[in-house]
Amino acid sequence: MKILVIGSGGREHAIVRKLRESPRADQLFCAPGNGGISQDAECVNVSAMDQAGMLALAREKAVDLVFVAPDDPLGAGMVDYLEAGGFPCFGPNKLAAEIESSKVFSKNLMKKYGIPTAAYEVFDDSAAALDYIRSQNKYPAVIKADGLAVGKGVTLAQNESEAEAALHALMEEKIFGDSGSQVVVEEFLTGPEVTVLAFTDGHAVRPMVSSMDHKRAHDGDQGPNTGGMGTIAPSPFYTKEIAKECMEKIFLPTMEAMNAEGRRFKGCLYFGLMLTPDGPKVIEYNSRFGDPETQVVLPLLETDFVDIIEAVVNERLSDLEIRWSSDACACIILASGGYPGSYEKGKEISGLDENGQAEGVTIIHAGTKWENGKFYTAGGRVLGITAKGGTLEKALQKAYAAAEKIHFEGCFCRSDIGTRALGR
Ligand code: AMP
Ligand code: GLY
Repeated sequence: MKILVIGSGGREHAIVRKLRESPRADQLFCAPGNGGISQDAECVNVSAMDQAGMLALAREKAVDLVFVAPDDPLGAGMVDYLEAGGFPCFGPNKLAAEIESSKVFSKNLMKKYGIPTAAYEVFDDSAAALDYIRSQNKYPAVIKADGLAVGKGVTLAQNESEAEAALHALMEEKIFGDSGSQVVVEEFLTGPEVTVLAFTDGHAVRPMVSSMDHKRAHDGDQGPNTGGMGTIAPSPFYTKEIAKECMEKIFLPTMEAMNAEGRRFKGCLYFGLMLTPDGPKVIEYNSRFGDPETQVVLPLLETDFVDIIEAVVNERLSDLEIRWSSDACACIILASGGYPGSYEKGKEISGLDENGQAEGVTIIHAGTKWENGKFYTAGGRVLGITAKGGTLEKALQKAYAAAEKIHFEGCFCRSDIGTRALGR
């Protein structure tokens, strides 16, 4: 098969790497891709949002399948467009992708179908939202932009003035454009956070191994929220009992709710869960693989990835058995100094020779470019150093040992990825 992957980050590199393991994937393309991906697939410089350009590319390369990985093209209807042009896609259509692209839609869906989530109210007026927060007088108050906001649409306001500032930024200044036309104000939940990615074709849901992201920029969960500074899989908090409860109360009901709404979801559904004292609750849905969760989940997949993708696309997932390794996996993000604020690009990266790395280590590129035989930084999150091991401790040791060999000016990483999972 000839497969085109849409996207340009670490998630897409991890997807391309996994596809390469399949004997069924003869030729891989990625648009637009990045420096690291260009070593594993033919990268073509078409923007992930350019629907006409993507269709032309799919035609030119005569691909058999398109894997739409990022949230923005999914939310904008890339799958609908390419399928109308005759190309089967892995990923939800626009209506189904609204489970991520509209928090108001997803919260109302959960309420309507009794899926456990934080209690909430929706507002289209900042004064009314602030009045409500004042009347509740419970902090932190959780304020979420309705639409996509590059992962930065959530504020945990510690007091009234922080709530006011957040509402002003979203609804008056419109820092995320129309995404802030409506906001969700919801109850603050506590407990370990777990991500469960699941394959679904609208008939069956097949959860993958669980994982845990580390969203804050600095050690001890301090500093600003980022796209994710590291991940581990599986999460030790996600026991068999909890998995069973999630299947019954969250995963299957979500799939059925989407079917009942005429929005059959086909692709990877991301469940962001909080394991609260009252049981697991949904914090958010995403309509796609997580980044950097994918970097630790896919290496543990033992079944042929192309077989699964095809089963999802053809709605035959129920027929397929999916096997997972019992190993653990860890990913340490190396980021540019200043990230998630402003940072410099174009720094030469040294120490990338994978032959010098231990067995089980994979270097995933998130923001790099390849020029004159060298890699340079090209984004905030630059690399994801990923390692598998028999235990989480071993995986982490290997990943950190590999990360130490790699350098670029201003490079930083968190030194405590996985420590909470290890109970430290
Ligand atoms: P999101 O951008 O939706 O992934 O949210 C960012 C982070 O905010 C989540 O990973 C949680 O840690 C936190 N968060 C979101 N909603 C809640 C909530 N209702 N209670 C507590 N924390 C939350
Ligand atoms: N790692 C969080 C996300 O992909 O949204």
